[in-house]
Amino acid sequence: MKSSPSTVFITGCNRGIGLELVKQFLGSEKGPKHLFATCRKVSDELKELESKNKNLHIIILEVTDYDSFPKVVKQVEEIVGEDGLNLLINNAGMIPADRDLKSVTPEAMRQAFEINCVAPLMLSRALLPLFDKAAAKAGNKTARNAHRAAIVQMSTAVASIAENEFGSYYPYRASKTALNQCMKSMSIDLKDRGILTMAIHPGWVQTDMGGPNAKITTQTCVSEMLKTIDQLDDKDHGAFLRYNNTPIPW
Ligand SMILES: NC(=O)c1ccc[n+]([C@@H]2O[C@H](COP(=O)([O-])OP(=O)(O)OC[C@H]3O[C@@H](n4cnc5c(N)ncnc54)[C@H](OP(=O)(O)O)[C@@H]3O)[C@@H](O)[C@H]2O)c1
Repeated sequence: MKSSPSTVFITGCNRGIGLELVKQFLGSEKGPKHLFATCRKVSDELKELESKNKNLHIIILEVTDYDSFPKVVKQVEEIVGEDGLNLLINNAGMIPADRDLKSVTPEAMRQAFEINCVAPLMLSRALLPLFDKAAAKAGNKTARNAHRAAIVQMSTAVASIAENEFGSYYPYRASKTALNQCMKSMSIDLKDRGILTMAIHPGWVQTDMGGPNAKITTQTCVSEMLKTIDQLDDKDHGAFLRYNNTPIPW
């Protein structure tokens, strides 16, 4: 991405795909004016990036701590002012260890649903006033895009019911399918507000979650994903896309 959206908010930035998103947004030719990177615990790499980039703001956030959201929104609002927020990437997510038919537990199902679906929905809603500001600033005639106002939900291809050929992964699959459904509802509910919503699959990526045998590095995943996000427009409102801008069947 040559030119970053002006104000960006990403969850789960201490490691993995989230950390690489932060690095590549900061490294873009025209970086963001303000980049909000949330994490539960600041990693050394994120701390180092903060010391070198005045536009990077680290926010401590457990994404299921809904009571903390008003404070977080206020914190962002005080910095972005009337610019509002252009782009949210709900990246934080997890796969419970108890995932196959034999081991899956009610707790694993609930935990995945809460972190992978409920939290991104609630955070997106909490930040809507800031998206409204950004969308209004761009003007009514501007098409939807990630430089105006956009909510990107980090989904996964294994959320696709159509592509489920291997079974298992009950908590992860089901919670991300539910995330996709919430994203789709939001795209309809927000249709007149100039805010684009979509779900993206980052690929099978070499992170703690993806494991060492995954197909692509975080660098490839994020550089391709940012190209896709950069090109989003009205036709992608409510879409479910792979990192390389190809559609995924529901
Ligand atoms: N890697 C893949 O192959 C792959 C494929 C498809 C989709 N994805 C999706 O891509 C996203 C990032 O995955 P990744 O591979 O980078 O995973 P990762 O390396 O395991 O990182 C997960 C990130 O989410 C954060 N997180 C988890 N639960 C949280 C909570 N309750 N509150 C706040 N932060 C929380 C983690 O923070 P802590 O360090 O504090 O735990 C960490 O920053 C996830 O949504 C995942 O489902 C990944």
